[in-house]
Amino acid sequence: MNLLDVRNLCVRYGSEQTGVLAVDTVDLRIGQGEFVGLAGESGCGKTTLAMAIPNLLPEGATVVSGSVTFDGQDITHASEETLNSIRWKEISVIFQGALNALNPVKSVGWQIAEPMLAHDSGLSDKDALARARELLDAVGISKSRSSAYPHEFSGGMRQRVMIAMALACKPKLVIADEPITALDVMTQAQILDLLRSLSSSFDLSLLLISHDLSVLADTCDRVQVMYAGKAVESGSAETIFASADSSESAAHPYTNRLLKSYPNILHERVFIDGIPGYPPDLSLPQTGCRFAARCDQVQSVCRTQEPALIELHTNHFVACHFAEQVSR
Ligand SMILES: Nc1ncnc2c1ncn2[C@@H]1O[C@H](COP(=O)(O)OP(=O)(O)O)[C@@H](O)[C@H]1O
Ligand SMILES: [Mg+2]
Repeated sequence: MNLLDVRNLCVRYGSEQTGVLAVDTVDLRIGQGEFVGLAGESGCGKTTLAMAIPNLLPEGATVVSGSVTFDGQDITHASEETLNSIRWKEISVIFQGALNALNPVKSVGWQIAEPMLAHDSGLSDKDALARARELLDAVGISKSRSSAYPHEFSGGMRQRVMIAMALACKPKLVIADEPITALDVMTQAQILDLLRSLSSSFDLSLLLISHDLSVLADTCDRVQVMYAGKAVESGSAETIFASADSSESAAHPYTNRLLKSYPNILHERVFIDGIPGYPPDLSLPQTGCRFAARCDQVQSVCRTQEPALIELHTNHFVACHFAEQVSR
């Protein structure tokens, strides 16, 4: 059984008539202990999909259809009470742009201890603080700094504090939305190293979101790529990052363009080739493949027929009419 099983999820912002379907019939599965990467340009619906899981969607967003099953329980329309018992304890979230969300007037130790105290009435302040210090140690910050304030830390250190906070209540799933985007390249690599190392010391599943595919390469077991509200490809990291002449590699033209769009922070630096144009305006009706207008391998069928997400190889799904023959 998967720890997380999202099926056919549709999330809309605004009304049925004028709203935008930001997530359109998307599946997402995460196994126990699995690290899954979610990629795609800004505006493709990554955050919306992720926030729909613990129902932390902003006002105006509606889960129109589909289901979210977590640890065997359908939580799609769970009550606030049920969701409150799940958030932090079962599923924790490192929000996009949260680096500056730490409380400036509370020590980091206290900020890590607070969710533990809120979710465990039997825990003493002293024990919560002791565990906060252990967590700081686990994320590479000296225990002695637990009484320091956020302004005394660099951006990378603050992100480590956020990660410690996310781990505080021993959740089964951590959702990390662009956790390294605001950091410099060296610090990015260190935070990715940290996330990887935590997988062995904590029994953890991770949904790691990034607009930059290369960030997910060495951190994730599996990768799902979104484009304009749709899942266009998903497969093992091995497949997605395989070189083009391998027997199996990324098959969607969008994934392939995305792979060439960012410098790989961990490997050989290659020429960066951005994707011309922009994702479509989802407030307008969509026909055909949503990537057609930007695809260098577009054919006439792409403009009229929406490609289904098919299983090209075992556990490798692609939504492209020409998945088997795209050139890379
Ligand atoms: N609070 C909101 N209200 C209305 N539309 C939104 C809101 N948040 C996101 N959207 C729209 O939903 C789409 C997906 O956004 P988002 O999930 O944030 O994408 P990503 O995380 O991939 O950048 C975008 O087109 C965006 O304009
Ligand atoms: Mg986002």
